Amino acid sequence: MNGFTYYSPTKVVFGGGSERDAAAEIRAFGGSKVLLVYGGHSAEKSGLLSRVCRTLEEGGLQYRSIGGVKPNPRLDLAEQGVKLALEYGADFLLAVGGGSVIDTAKAIALGATHPETRLWDFWLRKAEPKGSLPVGVILTISAAGSETSDSAVLTNQETGEKRGLSTAYNRPRFAFLDPELTFTLPKYQIACGVVDIMMHTLDRYFTPTEGNELTDELAEALLRVVIRNGPKALEKPDGYQAMSELMWAGSVSHNGLTGLGALTDFATHQLGHELSAMFDAAHGASLSTVWGSWAKYCYETKPERFARYARNVWGVSGGEGTEEAALKGIEKTVAYFKSLDMPVDFSSLGIGVQSKETLRELADRCVFRGERKIGHFRELDREDVYRIYRMAN
Ligand code: NZQ
Ligand code: ZN
Repeated sequence: MNGFTYYSPTKVVFGGGSERDAAAEIRAFGGSKVLLVYGGHSAEKSGLLSRVCRTLEEGGLQYRSIGGVKPNPRLDLAEQGVKLALEYGADFLLAVGGGSVIDTAKAIALGATHPETRLWDFWLRKAEPKGSLPVGVILTISAAGSETSDSAVLTNQETGEKRGLSTAYNRPRFAFLDPELTFTLPKYQIACGVVDIMMHTLDRYFTPTEGNELTDELAEALLRVVIRNGPKALEKPDGYQAMSELMWAGSVSHNGLTGLGALTDFATHQLGHELSAMFDAAHGASLSTVWGSWAKYCYETKPERFARYARNVWGVSGGEGTEEAALKGIEKTVAYFKSLDMPVDFSSLGIGVQSKETLRELADRCVFRGERKIGHFRELDREDVYRIYRMAN
């Protein structure tokens, strides 16, 4: 086990109707002038937004709001939010939505604390955050895990870049997890969420680090629970039990716990981000599109790890040898994605077969034009990344 620091300071309040206490929590974390951030129409349509506004008013809090956050959230809306937060003198950001809304709120919180710095420079690692306004979350979709993570992912439409920024300042102060708020989700978004939760876990589980029993077994348990509950959630999106399991798993999958003491991989996330940046693919769908190809390309680096995954997560137990079990685990994962109606290659993602030039461009962007390699389970350079995209094409 490698040395680690575990810092997961987000207060989680779980259960039906829990978000009624949002005003008290905001006060407890020092907020009085709140900037409320939300997405398209779902929170308005469900009545959640007006309930939250009422809660803030009844709690004696002042607020302004900024809506219209889109999936794969854009830098320019975050910049508008920074301007608004500064004009208004906001001292707290409340995100009502999913990963896109939360990440926009995190970006606004950072930007409002550093008005002299160009916001995108933080994402380009040209500027270092020195603080942030506090952010609280009322979560409406189990997927990105941003409600407990230290990361915020933005898309710069001008440059075609989708980038993540990880800093302890990005950790939300609190997260209300009310599974009932997810009952209005379309099936496609539920499935995207299941894939994303699995992928946060797999991108940590496939590691070169050995000897991490507790971390490994936590990850395997989380994967089994998510795999079991995904189809139940799709069958009955207003079923509290399955939606609760997914919601808690989503938060645990990305708060750091399932990768403690080990090097993480995250190549699949980097491969997926380029598909989202170029084709505006939904995050979860971008991940299922490339994972099978990534796995087939990389498993030979350490087939025992894939065999363990097959046995402990998928119950592969027919006396297979290491190689055979490893491949069975990959097959089962890809078949599972298909059963959720998630894409497993470019054509099922709906972007058709891409030209060699486009695949080269995707690979080039993914390795920042040669400035970096991705992944740790197997380190991947530009040529490796190109080959994986070609396999998924
Ligand atoms: O915009 P509205 O109308 O609210 O609709 C949203 C959106 O269309 C809808 N939705 C959300 N809650 C709903 C609902 N529809 C009906 N009922 C509800 N209760 O779902 C759609 C997707 O929302 P989004 O916030 O984009 O989903 P998700 O949570 O999957 O977030 C994806 C974004 O998070 C980033 C992704 O890259 C992507 O940009 N990630 C952020 C991470 C982080 N900060 O730690 C880690 C992740 O790996 C990920 O990269
Ligand atoms: Zn993700």
